[in-house]
Amino acid sequence: MRINKYIATSGVASRRKAEELILQGRVSVNGKKIDSLGYQVDEKNDIVYVDEKQIKLEEKKIYIVLNKPEGYITTSKDQFGRKNVIDLVKDIKERIYPVGRLDYETSGLLIMTNDGDITYKITHPKYEVNKVYIASVKGIPTDKEIHDFENGLEIDDYITSKASLKVVKKDTIKKYSVCRVIIHEGHNRQVRKMFDAIGHPVMNLKRVQEGKIKLGDLKPGEYRHLTKEEENYLKSFLNFEKDII
Ligand code: URA
Repeated sequence: MRINKYIATSGVASRRKAEELILQGRVSVNGKKIDSLGYQVDEKNDIVYVDEKQIKLEEKKIYIVLNKPEGYITTSKDQFGRKNVIDLVKDIKERIYPVGRLDYETSGLLIMTNDGDITYKITHPKYEVNKVYIASVKGIPTDKEIHDFENGLEIDDYITSKASLKVVKKDTIKKYSVCRVIIHEGHNRQVRKMFDAIGHPVMNLKRVQEGKIKLGDLKPGEYRHLTKEEENYLKSFLNFEKDII
């Protein structure tokens, strides 16, 4: 890439201004001052400085939502050699990472990005971003069990925060139900543990929404880029203290 474009893409100056910087002798590559406006930067190996300060190409920020299939892990290391969600987004050349986690057996909405600031904010407990799950569970929760689920259960070494549980389908013959759950915390296997705690183990779990971002009709393994509106919504976390849907 030509040196003036490199400087402009790194966000330091416009291309024209970059040429001025070069002519003023303020640009060096690998410690050697550049005097040619036509210098071609080797983006992988060259180290470019403006006024002795190293500059880097600004990476394009990517935001996608993946419908994670069951049987994929979302963490980077796995001793069992299981499939990783990264394999499903191989055609994206930027290195993107999952925002938060989903269990190996859980499917559904997974946001992925290379924007570390957003990842930090949206997964931080203090922002209380609501996450919506559809869970098929054994049996049919009673009113008392729903009340307990919604108002705090003792799990491991913590008590769960306020949650919402609506039974959307009951099958009294096959003895299972389908529930819509909203939580805003993100403890390990939390939804499964909450259902275990009220005596209705989860058979199938899918996340369908996080904050204002919805899974929509993505098929398992498919992903889409966020709309501008969704992207702005995510970025709003950089400015606001709290978001409630
Ligand atoms: N709760 C769970 O039990 N599993 C997930 O993957 C997410 C929330």
